[in-house]
Amino acid sequence: MLLLLFFLPPLRAQTPAPLLTLPSANAVASVGRAYAVLPSGEVAVINPTVLSVGVVNLRARALSREVALSFAPQRLLLLPERARIAVLSEGAPRLAVIDVATLTVTREIVIDVPLPVGASAHSMAALSPSRVVVGLPDRLVEVDLLTGETTSAARDLSEGVLLAAWGGYRYRLTQAGEFEVIGAGGVRVTAPLPTADRVHRVGVPALDARAGLLYVPLTLRAAGDPDRLPFDAQFDAVLVVVDLARPGVRSWIRLDMADGVWHLPSAALLNADRTRLLVTYAASNRLSVLDVRAGQRVVTTPVGAHPLDVGFSADGQFAFTVNRVDRSLTLLDGRLFGAPESIPTTERTPPPVVSVGERWFYTAADARIAWNHALSCYTCHAPRGVLGSYITRSDDDLSAFLRAHIVNAQGGSGLNDVDLAALVAFLRTLP
Ligand code: HEC
Repeated sequence: MLLLLFFLPPLRAQTPAPLLTLPSANAVASVGRAYAVLPSGEVAVINPTVLSVGVVNLRARALSREVALSFAPQRLLLLPERARIAVLSEGAPRLAVIDVATLTVTREIVIDVPLPVGASAHSMAALSPSRVVVGLPDRLVEVDLLTGETTSAARDLSEGVLLAAWGGYRYRLTQAGEFEVIGAGGVRVTAPLPTADRVHRVGVPALDARAGLLYVPLTLRAAGDPDRLPFDAQFDAVLVVVDLARPGVRSWIRLDMADGVWHLPSAALLNADRTRLLVTYAASNRLSVLDVRAGQRVVTTPVGAHPLDVGFSADGQFAFTVNRVDRSLTLLDGRLFGAPESIPTTERTPPPVVSVGERWFYTAADARIAWNHALSCYTCHAPRGVLGSYITRSDDDLSAFLRAHIVNAQGGSGLNDVDLAALVAFLRTLP
């Protein structure tokens, strides 16, 4: 038997990866993000905590408009004809359509698909000037923004996240660690990730349509019993470079080696000449800039609390991060990535107790919550459904549980009564 195997030609030569026809150069290629750069040069930004989209003028360093929403926004997408922005909600999937000229909501669309408890829509991508595809955990839904009509494009998929759409193809990553391409007529091609670890969080990817590559920031959960691993060894941050035409993983960058030990990579973006890759780390409040060829860090800059995404101004002069907990943009020089300035993205303020609690939930910068500044509550828990059995129990019970949990689960030295009460108040606002 062994001998037989020895004489077989190498497996790769027998099964060449199927080749997809690359979409034409003018096919729509897109990824929904936490912001959209408008034709005017202003930047529209999500404000999930206060249910709005802020419009920021980068030159004036000021908020110029704010558009109220009926839901917490998660992703924005400027549609290809640049007259409309689609806004996707967190949680139960809804879309709002914002008219770019008037900055008003012209339509709201409820995507009426049952979701498992605690589940959320993840992402969206543009298909044409008036159509988007929305990624739910187990299916893709296509929405016509002009008529409000929705069609379940691919149903009953394995649990996963929509990464991007390009021409006729939709790209997903499944929980089981498979990269998946869905073509016209539901044709599917898959390629495994080179790891046995579980996919825990998927960041906003950088799409390079010219080279046919997608850079996907991932947090992996180490295989094995988490209780036996030190706090900071339970999760790994990697950047997967996916070949879109010949679906498969072209390279695999361990961010903790290339870029130091930062946590929860939330988004990636290439600069215009594609030599630099920017990565935000949500738990560490950092932006890192990597040299694409060398796969090594060039510079790391502290930014606002819980950066969700990173972008460039239309002229490339500025880079910015979108910071969820600070409700701000951090504006940086677009070439050297220094000289950070903070610009608020909303005039609204949540109740003070909620903004304090939110900071404890989403960030790990303080030793009282995490001894090595690595683990935030959000590292392990999605906000939705985090209360579990405590949803029906008293605040005193929840506080007592959390007091011990912060020490045991994330190695924090512990919160005082005021901060613990704020965390509890924030948790009670979650769906
Ligand atoms: C290292 C991962 C990790 C971190 C960090 C973490 N948790 Fe947990 N959490 C768990 C696990 C695992 C459980 C289930 C086992 C248990 O009860 O200890 C849990 C349970 C809970 C429960 C109880 C749910 C139920 O149904 O009983 C709540 C509430 C909770 N966590 C909230 C938080 C909050 C708030 C934070 C931040 C202060 C946090 N967790 C940080 C892993 C984590």
